[in-house]
Amino acid sequence: MIKKITIDQLKPGVFIHDFDSGWHTENLFINQTLVKNVKTIDIIRSWGIKEVYIDTERGLDIDAAKTAREVRDETDKSLHELAKADPSSSYYIPLKEEIAIAENIKKEAASVIQRATANILAGEPLETEDAFQLIEKMGDSVTRNKDALILLTRIRQKDEYTLMHSISVGSLVLSFCYFAKIPHEMTLNLAVGALFHDIGKTRIPLEILNKPGKLTDSEFEEMKRHAEYSAEVMVNATNLPHEAFDMGLHHHERYDGTGYPDGLKGEEIGYGSQVAAICDVYDAITSARCYKGGMESILALRKLYEWSNYHFNKDLTYKFIRCIGVYPIGTCVRLESDLIGVVVGSTDNVLQPIVRVFYNDKKKSAVPVYDRDLFKIGDKVASYEDPGKWDLGKLKIFDDLPAGISLFT
Ligand SMILES: [Fe+2]
Ligand SMILES: [Fe+2]
Repeated sequence: MIKKITIDQLKPGVFIHDFDSGWHTENLFINQTLVKNVKTIDIIRSWGIKEVYIDTERGLDIDAAKTAREVRDETDKSLHELAKADPSSSYYIPLKEEIAIAENIKKEAASVIQRATANILAGEPLETEDAFQLIEKMGDSVTRNKDALILLTRIRQKDEYTLMHSISVGSLVLSFCYFAKIPHEMTLNLAVGALFHDIGKTRIPLEILNKPGKLTDSEFEEMKRHAEYSAEVMVNATNLPHEAFDMGLHHHERYDGTGYPDGLKGEEIGYGSQVAAICDVYDAITSARCYKGGMESILALRKLYEWSNYHFNKDLTYKFIRCIGVYPIGTCVRLESDLIGVVVGSTDNVLQPIVRVFYNDKKKSAVPVYDRDLFKIGDKVASYEDPGKWDLGKLKIFDDLPAGISLFT
């Protein structure tokens, strides 16, 4: 049985099934392992890990621990409560319409970042004028439809990870700021910071940056230096607000003090950097890398919820979860009417999105696929449904989306 325990409950003889370390974002590559001695526990603790999942069939059991299923059910319930607490969402234009516009904005964003990168490599300072103009357009796109730009950045060529990641984190920070009603000027400043938060990676050798395997200790240390490199680039930039500079330097700080480079804790970390940390981790775990597939959005939100017990500001994390939507587009759901479907669009209420229905669980039979606007009909999402139970790829229910866009990773 898989159970979740705290680091303090860990003891020799326990088998670690999952180190639950995705909040780290760096490629830790820690294999499942049997804890042989106390020294191993100290090493795990030194990585900042606070909780792990164990397999009681391969090692000792910890009686007091909750099972992975219990943890998941409790988290789902809490997420549902979060949605209920503030069910309003603004109305967006359909994904299909915004995708075409967002495609051009994505191309423009890519060229702004590529130009900035080339300038830096040529020893010139970072210019921010183009970036501010771009951010306005990106902001308009995420206001019309918060999913289009982010979904487009999920399509990443092998060497494009950092580029698309920067656009995605920029879009997520914009989305968050609109949701949290951050004043316009501050929103733009934070979004520019998000766009350039990893600009220091231009100084990391490509063989380290794109290495598919485990990094050596010294490579790992060099990789971590990108935050300081970002700050070095940003300090010489023209018209770059201080909040943006801080996000470059501190987006890997963690609320419990386990981050880098300065090991800041709690509110010592700037607001923008706290928001950037959440958006950065969300993008990192939902997108495919050369060494792993991306996680489904709702599973990533569950993880953020769990990790906010230690690594992130809880209030900001809950706000981020509500901003993404609790039942984000692409989530498989069970409705109160016992129909099963996949969220394909937003309405005025996050618990009543537009759902593409494909199964009637009351009648235990498939139904011809149709889009059900829960807000208009008065139906509601009852719970998350494991998509693994349904062969969604085979159902081909997203044939109307543009080529290359996949709601499932
Ligand atoms: Fe980073
Ligand atoms: Fe990042």
